[in-house]
Amino acid sequence: SRELPQYEAEYLIIGGGIAGLFTAWAAAKAGAQVTLLTKRTVVESNTDRAQGGIAAALGVQDSPELHMQDTLIAGAGLCDEDAVRILVNEGPERVKELIEMGASFDRSGEDLCFTREGCHSQHRILHAQGDATGAEILRALSQNVSALANVEILENQYVVDLLVKNNICYGVLALDQITGQCSIFRGRVVVLATGGSGRLYNYTTNPEVATADGIALAYRAGAAVMDMEFIQFHPTSLVLPEAPRFLISEAVRGEGAILRNSRGERFMPQYHGMAELAPRDIVSRAILSEMAKTGSDSVSLDLTHLDPEKIKERFPTITLTCAKYGVDITKELIPVAPAAHYMMGGVKTDLWGETSIARLFSCGEASCMAVHGANRLASNSLLDGLVWGGRIVQAASRVIEDRNTGRPDFANPGLLPTPDINFRELRKKLQHIMGDKVGPLRTAQRLAEALAFFDRWSYLSAYEVKDTYQMEVRNMLEVGGLITEASMMRTESRGGHFRLDYPETAERWQKHILLKR
Ligand code: SIN
Repeated sequence: SRELPQYEAEYLIIGGGIAGLFTAWAAAKAGAQVTLLTKRTVVESNTDRAQGGIAAALGVQDSPELHMQDTLIAGAGLCDEDAVRILVNEGPERVKELIEMGASFDRSGEDLCFTREGCHSQHRILHAQGDATGAEILRALSQNVSALANVEILENQYVVDLLVKNNICYGVLALDQITGQCSIFRGRVVVLATGGSGRLYNYTTNPEVATADGIALAYRAGAAVMDMEFIQFHPTSLVLPEAPRFLISEAVRGEGAILRNSRGERFMPQYHGMAELAPRDIVSRAILSEMAKTGSDSVSLDLTHLDPEKIKERFPTITLTCAKYGVDITKELIPVAPAAHYMMGGVKTDLWGETSIARLFSCGEASCMAVHGANRLASNSLLDGLVWGGRIVQAASRVIEDRNTGRPDFANPGLLPTPDINFRELRKKLQHIMGDKVGPLRTAQRLAEALAFFDRWSYLSAYEVKDTYQMEVRNMLEVGGLITEASMMRTESRGGHFRLDYPETAERWQKHILLKR
């Protein structure tokens, strides 16, 4: 409404992980005026937790073609080949830019070190400080972005809704979580780089901020979303009573760690020729099947045959975190199980990151142009954030120049007063439903139960909710419903979507499910 404070930027970027920060950097370098909003701090993101690394065909034995082949195999028939070609060809240039910005990747002498992860045919994954790759990238990026006078970063700004009229996005309504003040931020271009949805699940490697807000905002505003059924469960998250589901990087298996069931038997060779380095969805299901067979809530990751000094040097964060919970990974087995990790689906975009709403762009985990298909190849997600962050800026310059869109007013929506609901209980219930019914093993019966839950709570969208926590829950209900709906529709199994009642991959399903309000 007219009473709300109003701010303006050329680029209004939502999200402070790699995708948002890189877009901000590229836009500011091109001379644009940028405002970046993030709901907590620029550091709190999945990027910050990324361990394994960032994949790029920079090694002498490697090529973009080989990287493309591996990406397509992992993607299980649903990758957009043009998108993959862009990723593997533009990726190395973007990574070099990160290096020029001061991101310090591990080297042996002058040469970059490359590790391997699941489904990669080559050693092509760069890492930093052993297993703190994302944190190092964020350090370099945020330092560079902060030094640019034409970028303003505003933390603790929670985006309540997108401001869209006649399918054109003009900005956002945001709530300052410190002052409680709502403001209108207008942008000539709005970029959703809000990240993933791991917190929809009871077990996840994701930080608390990963509540799928961007996807809910875009869907509510009328954008198409795609591939929502494809959720990647990382095979190895730590399972200890007091510990969070901390990620144990796939790079640990890349360096030779072995998976054993609770009887101590190695099992992966029976499931796939690449054994421990099979595509992620296959390793996760193999683990679940071994857990069921042996009646255990975890399997073990065994590094005890590897050189202890090398492990400590290569994986300092994992070594320290496990030690904190009483496990010496050089001598003891690490109990692990799958946990929700990455969302392949998201706000549908074209190859330039433009959504189905004019002036609204999206990149990183929140977006989907099917570059990851049904199952993302390990360490392709940081790369995706960089590549499409850069492309959006190339595409958006024409949008910025076009000033003929008017300047509509936006009124506060007239919503009903908040009902008396225990939102904490509701969030927990949702996470359990998603874990039990819409997890790695789905059936029509389980999905129908989940749909009934989401239908029951859909009325909440007509109510005003008071704080960020409640708004997150409402977004989680919206996106949980979409994941469930798409999972029910897809009567086959492929990549990150597995139906016990339709275990085969079906050719007729080699297509995408788009959902639109
Ligand atoms: C890992 O280090 O295993 C995570 C890498 C990724 O999700 O791409």
